[in-house]
Amino acid sequence: MDKLILLLGVSVLTSLLSEAFAQTDLTGKVFVFPRESDSNYVKLIPRLEKPLENFTLCFRAYSDLSRHHSLFSYSTKGRDNELLVYKTEVGEYQLFIGHSKVTVRGLEELASPVHFCTSWESSSGIAEFWVNGKPWVKKGLQQGYVIKVQPIIVLGQEQDTYGGGFDKSQSFVGEIGDLNMWDSVLTPQDIKLMYHGSTLAPNILDWKNLTYNINGYVVIKPCVWLDYD
Ligand SMILES: *[C@@H]1O[C@H](CO)[C@@H](O)[C@H](O)[C@H]1NC(C)=O
Ligand SMILES: *[C@@H]1O[C@H](CO)[C@@H](O)[C@H](O)[C@H]1NC(C)=O
Repeated sequence: MDKLILLLGVSVLTSLLSEAFAQTDLTGKVFVFPRESDSNYVKLIPRLEKPLENFTLCFRAYSDLSRHHSLFSYSTKGRDNELLVYKTEVGEYQLFIGHSKVTVRGLEELASPVHFCTSWESSSGIAEFWVNGKPWVKKGLQQGYVIKVQPIIVLGQEQDTYGGGFDKSQSFVGEIGDLNMWDSVLTPQDIKLMYHGSTLAPNILDWKNLTYNINGYVVIKPCVWLDYD
């Protein structure tokens, strides 16, 4: 009897685990967030042990939202905006690090696919922004800070608590793909390569080997708005 219960327990646990976390090569695919909600999101599991002194984050997004929305929400215990990329309006993004923020503006069209990269270096505090391979104005924040680890990383929603506190009016509706993160600041040449579809062995989040967990109504589909060849 005990043995049977144990066996049942193990098999339920195994199926729960295998359902809960997929590890996949998502090359040529996107996460589609088809409806506004406060419950549809994807959790990304990073390979990250040491606090972050430097990073680069790149992704592609396609959305026809004109209201503000979250693009990448990284929170740690007790710090909801440890690292957040937030789009306030067309042509305006905010980067939060350790709850401080900078705002950057540039030319952009509504409802056109965007390749977005941002990087930050603790020693100078300099944050760089690259939109469709072009540099936007550099800003500076949190010089000397170190980004805490054991994050919960969420796409589709903005965290106001560790792993929750979602608000429909900040949710993302649209498609996200090619998301990669490194623990270093990429060179302008590398950013251009990424924009043109190369990948440079990302060590924190790797779209070619992504560990993630879909919650609610999020669907994986081929990316039809890019040529990957
Ligand atoms: C972060 O970048 C700075 C300068 O760009 C470098 O000196 C430092 O070693 C880097 N830190 C890590 C942990 O790689
Ligand atoms: C994918 O990532 C896991 C760790 O998260 C690693 O063990 C594995 O070697 C990686 N596979 C490839 C093809 O890089």
